[in-house]
Amino acid sequence: MNTNHKSQKRQLRVLTAIPKLKRAIAEIRARGETIALVPTMGALHEGHLSLVRLAAKRADRVIVSIFVNPTQFAPHEDLNTYPRTFAADQAALEETATDIIWAPSVATMYPEGFATRVVPEGAATVGLEDKFRPHFFAGVATVVAKLLIQCEPDVALFGEKDYQQLKVVTQLARDLSLPTKIVAGPIIREPDGLALSSRNRYLSPPERATAPVLHRVLKECAAAIAAGKPLGSALRHGRETITKTGFALDYLEARDAETLVPVGTSSSGKIRLLVAARIGTTRLIDNVGV
Ligand code: PAF
Repeated sequence: MNTNHKSQKRQLRVLTAIPKLKRAIAEIRARGETIALVPTMGALHEGHLSLVRLAAKRADRVIVSIFVNPTQFAPHEDLNTYPRTFAADQAALEETATDIIWAPSVATMYPEGFATRVVPEGAATVGLEDKFRPHFFAGVATVVAKLLIQCEPDVALFGEKDYQQLKVVTQLARDLSLPTKIVAGPIIREPDGLALSSRNRYLSPPERATAPVLHRVLKECAAAIAAGKPLGSALRHGRETITKTGFALDYLEARDAETLVPVGTSSSGKIRLLVAARIGTTRLIDNVGV
């Protein structure tokens, strides 16, 4: 970081065109300053804002991208109804250490004739989110590669809530020799344990009251495994509890915390427990370390 320039005030700019973004980046670089990127799809909540605050500690200038990426939604998913709250997002970022909102249109990101996709393997093909959302990681990898190339950040921050995504993006930056360091931000939770998510606003009051069960089960499973209970029975019990509470469970799995491959026993390195379940029409994901 260039500490000479740290005192320079932030003046939030909203940019929507690549030439203007490149000019702004050139100005930042000409001052010898570093850049952090926080990629988002908007509908910002405290989880995103915590990443922005982390970003401001890691670099002189902070770019927050807001782009609801159509290529990571399947036709039956919530692209059209995904919350779009640009004015509120901008107001929140005015108060939260942001220099640039990068808000390209779909036509800017995917112009007529666009024909290149980044299709990740490794952590993107371990049978978690990829099994239930087969289109998802190619969409995420393609847009994240584009955002990293467009914004040229020194660091980019991703929340641990999307744990598989974090691993996929980390591998992507490494595999494509991108000069950006991928940094993880912790999951931010409601007081009752529910992980913050833009999709929580879809929950009806009774669904919202039930939703913290996911985190409670993750914590109980993690404690049981740490205390030596066999993985199989800890997970079986957790799956039963989630299903009995009224969720449609996609998965509750124990995986190697780095590679996300299945772990056979509780003694094979660091373990991450990951869950995805639907309540009503809302799909929630969460995870904890053991
Ligand atoms: O986590 C998200 O909000 C999105 O998947 C991301 C990383 C911004 C890509 O569209």
